[in-house]
Amino acid sequence: MGCQANIADSEKIGKLLEKYGCKKTNSQEGADFLFYNTCSIKQSAEDRIFGLNNKIRDLKRGSKKRGKLAPIGGVKVILTGCMIHYAKEELKKRLPSFDYFVDIKEITKLPKILNLSSCAKTTKEKKSDNHNPVTVKTGLSDISKVWDKAENKFSALIPISHGCDNFCTYCIVPYARGREESRPVKTIIKEVKEAVRNGAKEIWLLGQNVNSYCGKNSSADETDRTKSTLNSHLSGGDNDEITFSHLLRMVNAIRGDFWIRFTSPHPKDLSDDLIKAMAECEKFGHYLNLPVQSGNDEILKKMNRPYTMAHYKKLVSKIKKAMPNITLSTDIIVGFPGETRTQFKDSIKLAKEIGYEMIYIGKYSPRPKTAAAKLFKDNVPKEEKERRWREITDVLRKTALENHKKLVGKTMKVLIDSKQKDRFYGRTKEYNLVEIKKSPKLKIGEFANIKIEEAKAWKLKGEMEK
Ligand code: SAH
Ligand code: SF4
Ligand code: F3S
Repeated sequence: MGCQANIADSEKIGKLLEKYGCKKTNSQEGADFLFYNTCSIKQSAEDRIFGLNNKIRDLKRGSKKRGKLAPIGGVKVILTGCMIHYAKEELKKRLPSFDYFVDIKEITKLPKILNLSSCAKTTKEKKSDNHNPVTVKTGLSDISKVWDKAENKFSALIPISHGCDNFCTYCIVPYARGREESRPVKTIIKEVKEAVRNGAKEIWLLGQNVNSYCGKNSSADETDRTKSTLNSHLSGGDNDEITFSHLLRMVNAIRGDFWIRFTSPHPKDLSDDLIKAMAECEKFGHYLNLPVQSGNDEILKKMNRPYTMAHYKKLVSKIKKAMPNITLSTDIIVGFPGETRTQFKDSIKLAKEIGYEMIYIGKYSPRPKTAAAKLFKDNVPKEEKERRWREITDVLRKTALENHKKLVGKTMKVLIDSKQKDRFYGRTKEYNLVEIKKSPKLKIGEFANIKIEEAKAWKLKGEMEK
């Protein structure tokens, strides 16, 4: 799994392989290929993959329990994603049961690597012989759910940039994903339009640092052409560079009934211009994940996060002033090397003050190649990290509940995204999770007006408006 950018990559793999006659399967049983699109952000995520080697060895041997083996030459196991930051030799040594290690940047070469053209041909030949076509199943193990979501098409994940140049001292992303590269504006706009045409009701613009987006990285040709489009959407201003605010306005100008979301912005790059664009774009869902990482200036410095608490708080107040109904979430790391209890308390203080809707809390783990792993000792004990995690969660439970209570009695537009037993689930424009009583009129992938009846810490409860 991993971040949404990784999920977007999984979708891309799925779509690519479908062109070659592959079909996804939700079980490993009878699959020809198993894909692991990995995440390296935490040690535990990598450990789970390293722990899979023997399971895959047994799967390949075809244990009795597993029944029939895959029809074409046995199952092939492919690892891609961020764990490719390890040297291939090391991966081969530690994961001998895996067959291929493919850099996500080289994913278009997959069909060739897997010799897929012949699979597609086999399917075709069999069909013309009037036989049942061979089912080329692809067990995208942990990403089959993602694929389902992609098939629903109501939520489109559009990467606008890849990689990261920030080198926060704890973070492996710049090593795993490489340097930041903005995708051409033209391509992004084309993909958004296509998604909206296909029924997308929610567009996610994705990047490790979305707000440092710079359309200048696109080919000059594309930038020039986009400029004329921009001019029709923008009233004057300096168009020498296509910034993230420009991009947001361009996406907002695309016709259709959909919401725009983005993740993640870096506080250091969140300009007044962007706040203005967010407030003025009527399709922008008023939800912002603004990762802070710590509430203490000294720790922020050690993390190489170049902002202070004063700056962050001022930013938040500007955002709240421009969009009073905005829902905020953040990322906080607990137990960064040397983080004292007093320094940790600053994160608690901040969480109380801002009143986040959600906090993604990471218990610090040293990651290979990073500066923090090289320079600092991981000296906050595991139990203490756990305790700090619980302490922040307790604050969050209260702030989230307080926020939710204010919404009771309101009718909110909700995008329905799933169903479990007799309950539907969806998100408001501000990204609050809502559990909804079943109604024949509710449809996954569609908007509905929901009367909010009850507030819980982790969700709202409501009913379809009569
Ligand atoms: N680009 C985004 C987030 C990327 S990674 C940003 O700048 O905020 C997602 C989150 O994982 C980070 O926000 C951080 O909170 C967490 N994380 C990254 N490295 C970590 C590490 N070594 N230990 C614990 N949490 C980590
Ligand atoms: Fe990692 Fe920092 Fe880049 Fe986010 S901004 S991906 S935390 S290096
Ligand atoms: Fe994980 Fe790579 Fe994303 S490390 S968080 S999948 S960029």
